[in-house]
Amino acid sequence: AQSLRELAKRHGLYVGTAVDMAALNDAAEPRYRELAASEFSTVTAENVMKWESLEPTRGTYNWGPADELIDFARKNNQRVRGHVLVWHNQLPAWLTSGVADGSISKAELRQILRNHITAVVTHFKGKIWQWDVVNEAVSDPWDTPSTLHYKGFWAQNLGPGYIADAFRWARAADPKALLFYNDYNIEAFGSGNPADDKTQFVYNMARDLRAKGVPIDGVGAQGHLGTQYGNFSTLQVAAALRKFAGLGLATALTEVDVRSQITEGVEAGDSAEINPRLQASAANFSVLMQACLAERHCLSFTLWGFTDKHSWVPGAFSDPPEGLATVYDENYQPKLAYHELKSDLIFS
Ligand code: G3I
Repeated sequence: AQSLRELAKRHGLYVGTAVDMAALNDAAEPRYRELAASEFSTVTAENVMKWESLEPTRGTYNWGPADELIDFARKNNQRVRGHVLVWHNQLPAWLTSGVADGSISKAELRQILRNHITAVVTHFKGKIWQWDVVNEAVSDPWDTPSTLHYKGFWAQNLGPGYIADAFRWARAADPKALLFYNDYNIEAFGSGNPADDKTQFVYNMARDLRAKGVPIDGVGAQGHLGTQYGNFSTLQVAAALRKFAGLGLATALTEVDVRSQITEGVEAGDSAEINPRLQASAANFSVLMQACLAERHCLSFTLWGFTDKHSWVPGAFSDPPEGLATVYDENYQPKLAYHELKSDLIFS
């Protein structure tokens, strides 16, 4: 049977996954490495290109794991999405505590950010297809205040101007990499749910950056969906992607997974219990894929992990427990969602 990457190639689409380096290097689990290589034409580091991984101690860079992924991608003829240059999570403790105790001033912080972007983008120069330059800079309706705003460590300490700076610094270090803004809750427009407002907020941000000549090339919609949340239609997702494309930007689905609430004990055998979730999951994956296929500026469709054996979801959602978020089960058996993605690639 043809792989996802082969089927996607006929559309000029790259299909990818986030890669967990511990799983990739686990000799007891060869299936992880095999599938990561055979099914996908692009890879993203799930964690090892984040600041806390790259520079755990100030001034000492730990490139090893990220370089390994770059090497894996080269051997398997895959493109790499770089993730992530500027984010408020997974920052090294020396940085956050230095700011908190005042030993790092605002002026120094801006210089540190500039140096970080320059060092990282230069290190990987020529090897990264798309960089997530700025990640999750915008609040959600459930935040306080509920009016959408620039949130988090960087906006608080530097003001929202850091966003334009980050893109300029990244461009200077690698003029050929495509520079993306990446976020969640911007997957759809016209759904009538509050995510519309965030899509519009990010659209306005991107429009203003473009108007000022800031070098942003794309917007990535993460695509972390759930079967018990409001589901989008293909038209609503295509509408969001088309809005961004209307600014002359590329788009991508960058972190797709679809989580479900799980009930202890039923997963193993109870198909009456499990089948509705598998179907709802497949339908959500399919909506995102069909929208991406319908919009020619959608360059890549990346899964945030491909097996339930290695997924961030159970660790992040425990009350109530959620999981089942990927397209292969814990035993590396493809689920309905996997077959559905293939159908979309074959019949579109
Ligand atoms: O590395 C330590 C390890 O030393 C320690 O023993 C272990 C104990 O908890 O923790 C390990 O760190 C974990 C890290 O993943 C590496 O595995 C963290 O606890 C855990 O919180 C961290 O989670 C990651 C999460 O980002 C953190 O924000 C997930 O793997 C990763 O999938 C997730 O990815 C994000 C994207 O970058 C941005 N968009 C949302 C997406 C999902 O949250």
